[in-house]
This record gives sequence, structure tokens and C-alpha cells, in this order.
Amino acid sequence: MKDHKNHRSYNERNECINSGKMKIKWAERHMKVLEKIREIFENEKPLDGIRIGMALHVEAKTAVLVKTLIAGGAKVAITGCNPLSTQDDVAEFLKKEGIRCLARRGMNREEYYKALNSVIDFEPDIIVDDGADLIFLLHKERKDYENIIGACEETTTGVMRLRAMEREGILRFPVIAVNDAYTKFLFDNRYGTGQSTWDGILRSTNLIIAGKRVVIAGYGWCGKGIAMRAKGLGARVIITEVDEIRALEAIMDGFDVMSMEEASKIGDIFITATGNRDVIRKEHFLSMKDGAILANAGHFNVEINIKELEDLAKSVKDVREYIKEYDLGNKKLYLLAEGRLVNLVAGDGHPIEVMDMSFANQALAIRYLVEKGRDLEKKVYRMPDKLDRYVAKLKLETLGVRIDKLTEKQLKYISDWRFGT
Ligand code: ADE
Repeated sequence: MKDHKNHRSYNERNECINSGKMKIKWAERHMKVLEKIREIFENEKPLDGIRIGMALHVEAKTAVLVKTLIAGGAKVAITGCNPLSTQDDVAEFLKKEGIRCLARRGMNREEYYKALNSVIDFEPDIIVDDGADLIFLLHKERKDYENIIGACEETTTGVMRLRAMEREGILRFPVIAVNDAYTKFLFDNRYGTGQSTWDGILRSTNLIIAGKRVVIAGYGWCGKGIAMRAKGLGARVIITEVDEIRALEAIMDGFDVMSMEEASKIGDIFITATGNRDVIRKEHFLSMKDGAILANAGHFNVEINIKELEDLAKSVKDVREYIKEYDLGNKKLYLLAEGRLVNLVAGDGHPIEVMDMSFANQALAIRYLVEKGRDLEKKVYRMPDKLDRYVAKLKLETLGVRIDKLTEKQLKYISDWRFGT
């Protein structure tokens, strides 16, 4: 018979698996585009015998993608793409289903890379990455492994890294920049990050946003979404930018634009979404107000220079789940989610319906690589427009929305250069 301790841990594991299962079921219910793709995959088995190695945020929506790929005939190994974003209940459920899932929340650097290496040891044909750590490993330490047909990349930061590799001529296989599909970035980066960043900040702080000065670093698609939702919550929004055009866009969208040097003196909440390092650093910490809150929405935890913040602090302590207090002597600053993606560490990531479109793109990009990848060059490719539009079409169908069609006359009108006469 099991002793009490084992019996308890057995029950706890079952509860954990059940919690993961329920989260996945809820996600599945709202991922109607992926459901349609799964039906097609079940019938056509386009991924039969294909081995897929993934490094994604392991949470419920990701599990729905994994199930879709398996329905298409694939074998999958998956690990996390961030040490703090894995939801262990979801990971446990995947393991129970016999899927090679190596993710665990709170891995250290060594464990994180060991898990990435295990995904490569699975001998994948296709790589699905978020942030390009797995692809990077295949170009640095695992050049021995040569059987990759191609890869898909989920996020802006990853695509930036991969384009740099392409420019240097070192890319070893074709990559589809799933991030750059319209049905991905217009929705996931803007509305997804816009909502989920606030979800993470609100859950972790339980503070009111109305009336607060919120400083958002970066006015790309993510920054735009965060700013739009900040405005909706009643914040006084300030944007910092390095790009003249984006800065002008932010002004015309109704936001104040200034340098971080100026903003650091007046902000109550700071959110980074630039994809670059040291956006908030020592000189800014020094001029911040007592009680200022710092959060990051970018892929890596480099946007807020945590080392400089630690060096300035006389003491550091946890004051609430996901909130660290840095006591600088004359003031206290608060860092959320250890400067990692606040939406995934302190929240559940992007809303389900948004990830439905992002992961529909992933599923179709994987199929495209299986069918065409061997003929592609070792470059970073945009998502084929036909597939991007197919995702939009399916999404509209699931929403029950019909749109107009061009008439013959209209088609002729817009394709004839004489139409003005
Ligand atoms: N859930 C799974 N992957 C995600 C991502 N890249 N961003 C936000 N939520 C996610």
C-alpha cells in the first residue's frame, strides 16, 4: 500500500493533470480556427511520420496546437521558451498523454538548455520556435544535427535574430516568419499583448490604472496595443521611442511622447516592449519616483537592466507574488515578474481567440514546410499570403461574418490605369 505521503502526491499529481486538462478543454472550445484545421489534418494526415521539435510557452493554447499537429500524424517533443512561462498542470497533462514534454516552470539556465538539447535529441524534421533559442542552439552547439527541413518562428524578437543570421549567410535551413503574417501580428502583437500585458499587471498588483502615468517604451505593434488598452483603463499614457515615424504616430494617436530621461521622472508604471536591451537603466532608476512599478512585455528579460537595479538597491525582497521590492534608500521601486514577460509569468498569455489565429498560422506553416520546405532556400520567408488570407477567411467564418466580393466591373476598374478618365 502507498504511504500517506505518496498517496498525497499521487492525488496532487492527478489534481494537477486534471487542472491542465480543464484549461486545455476551455481553450479548445474557443479555438475554432484550429478546430477546423484539426478536422482537415485528421482526414488528410499531412504530417504523417513527421517529427516536430518545439520551444514555445507551454500553456493551454499551446497544448491545443500540439494536439492539432498530432491529429495530422506528427510526433512532437516540446519544451518551454522561457524559464518562467510554463504552466506545470498543462505540461503534466501533455506528459500523461505520452507526449515528450520537457517543460517545467522555474528551470535554471542549465536545465533550460538541457531541455532544448533533449528536443534536438528527439531528431525533429521541423522546428517551431518562439524567440529562436532552439534554432540558435542548432547553429551554435548542435551543428551535428542536420535533418531539419525548416523552422517556424513565432515572435518579433526571434525573427529579428533570424534575419541577422540570414544576413550573415549562416542560416542552415529555411524559416517561416509566422510572426510577420497579418493574421498574426495585427491581432496577437496588438490586441493580444495589449490585453494580456494588462491582465498580468492587474493580477499581480491589484492597483487602479485610471489616473496613473503609464510610460510605454516602444510603439511597435505590441506597444500600440498596450497603449490603446492603457488609455481605455484611464491611464495618462506616455510613449518613448527611438523611431521618428513611430513617435509621430504615437503623437497623432493622442499620446505624449518624450525621452525616457524625462518620462522616468514622472511615470507611475513603466512597461517595456521594444525587443532591445537596457531600455530602462541606472540613470532612469535614479530619477524615478518612490513606488514606481516596472514591467516588461518583450520576449527577453533584458529590457530593464536588472543588474543595475540590484546594484543600486540596499535590499531586495518579495512583497507579493510576482512583485520584488528594490529599496534604494531614498525610495522603493517594484519589479514585476522578475522582468520577464509579465503577461505569461503573471497571467495566462494572450487571449485564446487571438492565439487561435497565431497557432492556425503555425499549423499551416508547418504543413507548408513539409510539402515545400525541401525546395526552399536557407532564408527567412514571410508566411505565404494565401495561407495568411486563409486564416482570416476561416476566422471570419467562425465568427459568422460575411464580407463583400468585388464585381467584374469593380475588378476591371481597379486594375485599369485609365480609370480616372
Ligand atoms: N501563449 C502561447 N504562446 C504565447 C505567446 N507567444 N505570447 C503570448 N501568449 C502565448
